[in-house]
Order: sequence, then structure tokens, then C-alpha cells
Amino acid sequence: MNRQWIYTAAPEGKLTTDIFELRKTGVPEPGPGEVLVHNRYFNVMPGNRAYMHSGPLLGELGSQAGTPMTSLAVGEVVSSNDPAFAPGDVVQAMSAWQDYVAMPAQSLAKRDGAPSVEHYIGLMGQSGYTAYVGLLHVGQPRAGETLLVTAAAGGVGSAVVQLGKIAGCRVVGVAGGPEKCAWLEQEVGADATIDYKAGNLSEQLRQTCPEGVDLFFDNTGGPVLEAALDAMKHGGRIVLCGNTAQYDSDKPMSGPKGVPLTLILKDLTMKGFACMTYAEHFSEADRDYSSWLEEGRIKPFYHVIEGLEQAPNALVGVLGGVNLGMTMVRV
Ligand SMILES: NC(=O)c1ccc[n+]([C@@H]2O[C@H](COP(=O)([O-])OP(=O)(O)OC[C@H]3O[C@@H](n4cnc5c(N)ncnc54)[C@H](OP(=O)(O)O)[C@@H]3O)[C@@H](O)[C@H]2O)c1
Repeated sequence: MNRQWIYTAAPEGKLTTDIFELRKTGVPEPGPGEVLVHNRYFNVMPGNRAYMHSGPLLGELGSQAGTPMTSLAVGEVVSSNDPAFAPGDVVQAMSAWQDYVAMPAQSLAKRDGAPSVEHYIGLMGQSGYTAYVGLLHVGQPRAGETLLVTAAAGGVGSAVVQLGKIAGCRVVGVAGGPEKCAWLEQEVGADATIDYKAGNLSEQLRQTCPEGVDLFFDNTGGPVLEAALDAMKHGGRIVLCGNTAQYDSDKPMSGPKGVPLTLILKDLTMKGFACMTYAEHFSEADRDYSSWLEEGRIKPFYHVIEGLEQAPNALVGVLGGVNLGMTMVRV
């Protein structure tokens, strides 16, 4: 039997689990040149909610109600009609949220060598690659700089905090609530933190970044991005990774006050990036993460939810901030 999560209607306002339906079908038969994979893990990210926004903003990227939810998955080959894959191979691919998937061999990447398959969803998957290319290739941190990171206790954010420390930055993490802030300082290695839910963002930014921010890695947009523009140093760089503060709503997304005038007056650079544009650096990320894991310079923080049936709850949870680190569902 194959179970598959479909979302049946476009969400109105905040996401709720009642728009999801778990459909049961037979295990698919792989066709010529196809491989049958048993999914073991897939990631759950705020982006899954962002893609449910229909309309002109996302264009072809937007998904349609009535279709399966999809994410990066890692699984095991069950049977193969392509000589490049054999039963038991560990593979990574974009997949629907389901137990089994039959897909063309060229859509799969064979993976091996990591101490745990969870890494192919975590550090050596979408979250880890996004942190790596976004901070190191787009942001280009320099030792001694002050790096500000939003959603710092999340998947991408907790990796960016650690990569920032490896690069020699002073890292200030923004997260919701005192427990997350304490975790960031004690476990992840942030030098200072800001609890954005405690209010008075401008004052907290002044206290934690008294000389201003050189590099801002922004996962959330919204009020923190707006407040951070004033905290940027002259000539500072802003890397736009995500807009989580505005995903879980059916209202149109809006930009921060201060664009463009603050950017002009302070000579700021603001650059968005899509992780896949930097795919040529993924093997370099694998090598670096492997070494840093072995040397104990980076810690994997994985929030593992047990069971495919829990996937919609996992997505609602991520949007509500229940996770510490990278969220994944173990099928
Ligand atoms: N550019 C790319 O190619 C790319 C690729 C992958 C992911 N991304 C983006 O990267 C960002 C982080 O993804 P992730 O998977 O690592 O998710 P995540 O940060 O693990 O999870 C989302 C976190 O966002 C915070 N949050 C929720 N609502 C918020 C709000 N209104 N304001 C501020 N923070 C809020 C919550 O933490 P708190 O408890 O701290 O609020 C929650 O834990 C997302 O925006 C995602 O779309 C971009």
C-alpha cells in the first residue's frame, strides 16, 4: 500500500491540517528507465506553505490544490529499470509526501558516505545547502564582522549561525522566545540573541549590535527586516533567504519601509538568492560539512517527526515555531 498526502483546498489564513487528505493507492510500478524508491525521510519547510500561494507572485512555481505536497526526500531503491541504480541504494530526490515513488533515474541522486542518512535531508540537503551557499557564496562573511541571522533557531538559521562562527564572525541570532534564545547561545554558539517576540526590536538591536550590522542573513522578512535596516552599518550587505513572517496568510506580501531610501543613504546591498542557482557548490558543501562534522566544528540539529501521517502537523508546527533546527519527517 502507498499513502500520499494531498492538499484539497487553498488555505484561507493560517494553515490548518483539515485541508489535507491522506490518500491510499497501490505501490506504483516503475516504467522503462524508472526506479521505485521507498521514501525514508523528507523535509518540511515554511516554503511548503509559500508554494500554496496561488496567483501571479509565484507563477508556475505555485502548487495547485488537489495535488500532492512535495519536498526533498531521501529513500532506498526497491527495484530499478536503470543500470545506474540497484536495490538498497540510498537516493535523494524531490518527491511527493508518500511512501513509494516511481521516477525516472535521471531525477535521482545517489548518496553515500555520510554517517547518517538524516544528513541528506539536513546539512547535506536543502536546509544545509541553503545556509552554505547563502552565507558563504552570497553573503561572503569576513572575520570580525557582525552577522545578524533571523529564524536563527530554525533549520537554515541554526546552520548559518554555526557557519558564521566558523567564518570568524560575531553572530547575533533572532528567535521567538527566551528558551530558543538560550538554546542558541548555549548549544548552537550564537554570541548574543534577540527575542523578537519580546518587542522593542530597535532597542534590542542597538544593545546586541552597538556598532551596527555588517551582514544580515534574513529568513523572515516582516518587522525584523524593517527594524534591521536601521541597524545596518554603512555599506552593509543583506542576504534575503526567506520571508517566513508572511507565508502563513492569504494576504498579499509586502516589502519593508526603508526600501529604497535607507538602502540608498547607507550604500546597502540587498540580494536575494535561490539555493538551486548555486547547485555547482553542493559537492563543496558536502565536503566541508563532512569535515566539520568529523572535527566537531558543526553540530547537526534535527527535529525529527515520526510517521508520514504526522506530516501536515509537522508543517503547521514549523510555521508556528515549534522546531529547533531542521524539521524532517521519518516516513
Ligand atoms: N532562498 C532559498 O533558496 C531557500 C531555500 C530553502 C529555504 N528558504 C527559506 O529559508 C527560511 C527558513 O527555512 P527553514 O526550513 O529553516 O525553516 P525554519 O526556520 O526551521 O522554520 C521556520 C521558523 O520561522 C520562525 N517564524 C515563524 N513565523 C514567524 C514570523 N511571523 N516572524 C518571524 N519568524 C517566524 C519560527 O521560529 P521562531 O520561533 O523563532 O519564530 C520557525 O521555527 C524560510 O523562509 C524558507 O522559505 C529559502
